[in-house]
Amino acid sequence: MSDRKLTLTDSESGKTLDLPVISGSEGDPTLDISGLHKELGYFTFDPGYGTTASCKSDITFIDGEAGILRYRGYPIEQLAENSSFLEVAYTLLYGDLPTKGQFAGFERNITYHTMVHEKLNTFMQGFQYNAHPMAILSGVVGSMAAFYHDKLDVNDPEQRELAAKRLIAKMPTIAAAAYRHSMGWPSAYPKNSLGYSERFLHMMFSVPAEPYEVNPVAARALDLLFILHADHEQNASTSTVRLVGSTGANPYACVAAGIAALWGPAHGGANEAVLNMLNQIGSVDNVEKFVKKAKDKNDPFRLMGFGHRVYKNYDPRATIIRKQCHEVLAELGKQDELLDLAMELERIALEDDYFVERKLYPNVDFYSGIIYKALGIPTSMFTAMFAIGRTVGWVSQWLEQAANPTRIGRPRQVYTGAGERGYVPIENR
Ligand code: CMC
Repeated sequence: MSDRKLTLTDSESGKTLDLPVISGSEGDPTLDISGLHKELGYFTFDPGYGTTASCKSDITFIDGEAGILRYRGYPIEQLAENSSFLEVAYTLLYGDLPTKGQFAGFERNITYHTMVHEKLNTFMQGFQYNAHPMAILSGVVGSMAAFYHDKLDVNDPEQRELAAKRLIAKMPTIAAAAYRHSMGWPSAYPKNSLGYSERFLHMMFSVPAEPYEVNPVAARALDLLFILHADHEQNASTSTVRLVGSTGANPYACVAAGIAALWGPAHGGANEAVLNMLNQIGSVDNVEKFVKKAKDKNDPFRLMGFGHRVYKNYDPRATIIRKQCHEVLAELGKQDELLDLAMELERIALEDDYFVERKLYPNVDFYSGIIYKALGIPTSMFTAMFAIGRTVGWVSQWLEQAANPTRIGRPRQVYTGAGERGYVPIENR
């Protein structure tokens, strides 16, 4: 901690308090307000936690003004260009890029855990065929504690690591099974001779009646999307995982809660909402009308895939995805008029004062759906794809917290309800 401080004076009591400044390795200085209530009797009010740091973390750094994202210090652009999703997963979990030997061991280990308990497949059959995959995913992941309860001592680092690996390994298996369930297809078991993303595509699309070859362009595109979604510091779903984790709950319950938080359209559900929105806009001629709608404060409509709490500049992930979108479509020999529509929407919005003044740029979800669509992934699965990638971030953050437990997360409130009043018997009301 530095000597820097901020001195507060209470105009009523005249009391002063020095709030120490915590400086991380990078990023804005942060006030330590933990003594504020004890010393001056005040709570702080920060709805949406826009100016609150909830923890210290070594994992991911974002500079929203500059549009910078780094995992463990490595710029996202370099990881996207050179790395693989599993290598990024290792790096997020353990702190450094792996050596060849470390990577081989990790990959073997993750691959070993890809199958799910057969009873879990049976459990999945209980869902309605038209259930949303995110409902199935959160339910089934939450139920994992019932299937893998043999090693669930959260105070044992080895058991924590095993749970983290199980989650990373099994999430694609469960997500693909949720899709197959909606299609009425028989279960597909993970083919462990394939890499992480190839295996997922195989589990999604192979059927017993036909041969299925994974397209390497599709597998690489998917791997890249998983890399870009792998972590994003204390976003809503990760904060949910940490908050649930602070109670000592098991990791499957924590991650199931994270999946539920991700599903919302303001968060990971935006990728599905973007595609629905583009379909609703329908043609380039309608773009202006929808931009106008998005600016109308009396209309709840927002441009999905636009804006971000932290980025007040282009989301660096969106820059990578935008480029990737053109490349994937070209390599797969596909054309999609939704891409033209998205580009026109982006062009008009970025020239519009409303979006410029509020620094609303396309975010990670704006173009990802067009790639998923090109890979044959149905819209309802988009947020589940996000969840597969983000599982690595959730478990890395959960492991970090579990290794250095803090107090239970327990915010306070500004009470605005009735003052004390007496109970009135029902016959007198
Ligand atoms: N369309 C139109 N207006 C917007 C939009 C949008 N997409 N996003 C923000 N605004 C306006 C908002 O109405 C407000 O205007 P004013 O100052 O006049 O009241 C201003 O911009 C600031 O917005 P905010 O709601 O205070 O910003 P926030 O930080 O609380 O919300 C957000 C961030 C991402 C939830 C929001 O921008 C949004 O709803 N975007 C659309 C959904 C979306 O794409 N979500 C994915 C986020 S990135 C991936 C992820 O986290 O999963």
